Amino acid sequence: MHKVSERDAQQLRNRIMKTLNDLPPMNEVVMKAQEIMADPNSNIEDLAAIIETDQSVVVKILKLMNSPYYGLGREISSIGQACSLLGFGKLREVIVAVGVSNVLGKKLKGYEFESGELWLHSIATGFCSRILAEKKNRELANDAYTGGLLHDVGKIILDPYVLERKDAFDNFMKDETKLVLDAEKAILGFDHAEIASDICRKWHIPENVTISIQYHHYPSLSEGSELAHIVHAADYLVRQSGLGYEDDDLMVELEEGAIDFLGFTQENFSDISFQVLEYVQKIDGAYHR
Ligand SMILES: [Fe+2]
Ligand SMILES: [Fe+2]
Repeated sequence: MHKVSERDAQQLRNRIMKTLNDLPPMNEVVMKAQEIMADPNSNIEDLAAIIETDQSVVVKILKLMNSPYYGLGREISSIGQACSLLGFGKLREVIVAVGVSNVLGKKLKGYEFESGELWLHSIATGFCSRILAEKKNRELANDAYTGGLLHDVGKIILDPYVLERKDAFDNFMKDETKLVLDAEKAILGFDHAEIASDICRKWHIPENVTISIQYHHYPSLSEGSELAHIVHAADYLVRQSGLGYEDDDLMVELEEGAIDFLGFTQENFSDISFQVLEYVQKIDGAYHR
């Protein structure tokens, strides 16, 4: 098959960077909620009041909080109650996840994702990255969550370009040994992880998080980034959970040496994967009821 030239790939990449303003914005109420949480003088009532102005945000937050991941053990029915039970830290995590649902929740015709599918994959990878970070290096837990949540954001950007070249992608994928990642490289000249790193730098995402997103498919190239290995392993585990959305989910492999690098043994890694599987199934169940 004809492979795209480096010059054409660079031109396309530049063109994509210019259209970034077309991305759907983050939900306004979520942005205000984040401002309130950053203000040390604010309190839970202020936060609940702003969130409650958008019922769709309320519903999403309550759904996520009632998912077994948070293990609250009882049904939460109001934002106020959720705030006092979870505290600001966990609540921020939930609000960020809901905030990106506008961006990550879109239907992607090029990649053939139904609405919400990439978002579920993303929050599951965020949760799983946090679990791994807590075992490997607790200080990385928040960054791991963000890296996991945003790792596939490049797919949102590339989707229209994949759709434009749908025939070429479908043809390429007829060879069942190929991954979507290979198709991106052959047809566009770069993959979703590379384009995501351009975007993260433009958005001023912290550099270690950006690196984890850039190298989430090949962490050995990241010059020893723990976060890149964590997000890579988390993405792998979530894809293996059986709730995958992409045809190549079960073909994707864990990079050799990744488990050793993270200091896990095969044994505790399978314990972790079991834990992840449970969470992912429960989160998925909470959304498909
Ligand atoms: Fe990816
Ligand atoms: Fe992924």
